[in-house]
Amino acid sequence: MPVVLKWMNPEVAKVRPYEPGRPIETVARELGLDPATICKLASNENPLGPSRRARLAVRRNLEHAHLYPDGYAFELREKVAAAQNVKPGQILFGNGSNEIIEFLGHAFLGPERSLVVSQYAFVVYKLVAQMFGGRVIEVPAKEMGHNLSAMARAVEHDTSMIIVCNPNNPTGTLAGEAQVHRFLDHVPANVLVVFDEAYAEICLGRMPDTIGLVREGRPNVICLRSFSKAYGLAGLRIGYAVGPESVIQALERSRQPFNVNRLAQDAAVAALDDQAFLTRTRRTFRRGRDQYEEACRELGLEFVRSYANFILIKVGDGAHVTRELMKRGVIVRPMAPYQLPEYIRISFGLPDENTRCVAALKEILPRKS
Ligand SMILES: Cc1ncc(COP(=O)(O)O)c(C=O)c1O
Repeated sequence: MPVVLKWMNPEVAKVRPYEPGRPIETVARELGLDPATICKLASNENPLGPSRRARLAVRRNLEHAHLYPDGYAFELREKVAAAQNVKPGQILFGNGSNEIIEFLGHAFLGPERSLVVSQYAFVVYKLVAQMFGGRVIEVPAKEMGHNLSAMARAVEHDTSMIIVCNPNNPTGTLAGEAQVHRFLDHVPANVLVVFDEAYAEICLGRMPDTIGLVREGRPNVICLRSFSKAYGLAGLRIGYAVGPESVIQALERSRQPFNVNRLAQDAAVAALDDQAFLTRTRRTFRRGRDQYEEACRELGLEFVRSYANFILIKVGDGAHVTRELMKRGVIVRPMAPYQLPEYIRISFGLPDENTRCVAALKEILPRKS
């Protein structure tokens, strides 16, 4: 080990870095392909791009890029507060909702704390817990989704936080309102319950109204939302949390002054007004889900019913199928990092992209008769 690493934080040294979906440019370089011919269906992005209103806002405001952003994000804060009917002080913005997961780690995790998560939930929770030296209590999934009653029962004396990913990435499962209420009734008041709802606005089912619980004054519930998915702003990095003011203030302590850049704030303000774009986005994803479900039935492949903009499919050897798809210019996500080596996760693209992906799957996995 190089001597310079002698003083590295041992908890951080243990972390296995997150493996994101492979960028188009990287795959093009490695396989000698034209980037324009590659379709990326690996990171649950919005294939429609950013909304037109968001694009215009960014162009307009680029001129002010030499000025630091408003660290308080006044305009966006007012807008989100009005849209969610909460107080401005109940909102916190992050450089993507990922950054807020890190703030949660700073504030609530450490060597004498544990975090309850579900098996097959978004892997970043575990990485953040590890980074802060927190213990992870992983509760076995039920039908690939969260077993919420078992998660409530899994709370131990040192549990500071439970994270519920809803809809869940990468399985796409959704926990409904009644289930969420029953679960909350069994969680002790000193445990913070985080609902990660990155896919809420595009959910292809009925989302439980968890922000409503915050509005009603539940002291231990916080919800995370993202502009990366429904609003098509993944590249600008912006997300937010809605929670009790006391919890938001606790998280604010680790936020850097200018964590959310100026263009991201401007784009988010504009995107919130673009309801037509949201409608088009939901339509695109619903169609995508139909396309893949139909293909799976044709090919005799098992899949998990998804309420988000991706689908988990059992293909046998996930790494092999991912490689073969990549050779054909389609980037998807192998699921071995989630201990699901037989599966791949495909994000819904535009209809033509989905058709291309399905055609490639048919070549790689011809139906056995
Ligand atoms: C469940 C979940 N939470 C959070 C994130 C991070 O989103 P953001 O781009 O807002 O950081 C993702 C991204 O894929 C996700 O799937």
